[in-house]
Amino acid sequence: MEILGLVGSPRKLGNSELMVKEISRRIPDPHRLKLVRLPEMDIRPCRACYTCLFDDHTCPQADDFPTILEALLQADGLILAVPVYLLAANASLKQFLDRGLSLYGHFEKLWGKPAVAVAIAGIPGMEGYTKLCLDSALRLMGARPQASEVVYGALPGEVFMNQENLTTAEKLAKALFGPPPDWQSEPWRCQACGGDTFRFLGSEQVRCMTCSSPGMVQIADGLVSFAVDPSEDHFFLSLEGALRHLRWLQGMKERFLAKKGELKAICLDYLHEGEWLEPKHKRK
Ligand SMILES: Cc1cc2nc3c(=O)[nH]c(=O)nc-3n(C[C@H](O)[C@H](O)[C@H](O)COP(=O)(O)O)c2cc1C
Repeated sequence: MEILGLVGSPRKLGNSELMVKEISRRIPDPHRLKLVRLPEMDIRPCRACYTCLFDDHTCPQADDFPTILEALLQADGLILAVPVYLLAANASLKQFLDRGLSLYGHFEKLWGKPAVAVAIAGIPGMEGYTKLCLDSALRLMGARPQASEVVYGALPGEVFMNQENLTTAEKLAKALFGPPPDWQSEPWRCQACGGDTFRFLGSEQVRCMTCSSPGMVQIADGLVSFAVDPSEDHFFLSLEGALRHLRWLQGMKERFLAKKGELKAICLDYLHEGEWLEPKHKRK
């Protein structure tokens, strides 16, 4: 069995790397741990050309993205560990994820791989929206999130000066190939995806920021719960939904061609506005 550890920290033997390795050590099933340090991979920005949505689903960028994709396809399970930078997952995760349309053509093989994620913050309570970044990253990769946690530790290695974080590693290791998470026993979570970050839309209307499901927040006997609108079916939540989204994206090509002239006229109206700063260092 192969487990892929995606490490979001540039720090060698930093807390994210240690967390991945500790979780791996505690997985009871024999396995090989493959590791990717996201910040050292050359992952170029998406050019929004949509080429990857068609034909053989390859991206014209020549970089390390296909190497990671291949490792994802090979893996039987995933561990994602990313440090908090400025209240969010550091940019290496987003840089990878921004190329995520290249994953759509592989969803049939990628879909449903069990995964766990851990965010590492230096200051208790200062994790911002990092857990949300990790939870939605796993879903966008087609993985099946089994559990995710935030742990605290600032200096490299400090994460394991706290016994509690070893217990968290144990919990995540057990969850990876364990039974599906029971969200019903935790009614404050989104009952569609298990997410725990919501946007309040006025009165009792809320939206789950992980799967975009709308619903109602209710408070009864001092307990908060979130009731999802069951009529909504979001593309994050099933392979069928993801493939439907792929077809919708592919259909944009025809829509673009049909409206090309009209769109161009709108855009050109803004052509000469403002003064651009010239970059001093050209991107690779
Ligand atoms: C640029 C930068 C920004 C950071 N921002 C935060 C932050 O917003 N909140 C926080 O709790 N820790 C923050 N930290 C601390 C790291 O999350 C912490 O040191 C963590 O252990 C790093 O993980 P690593 O050892 O895997 O690199 C920041 C660190 C850096 C380098």
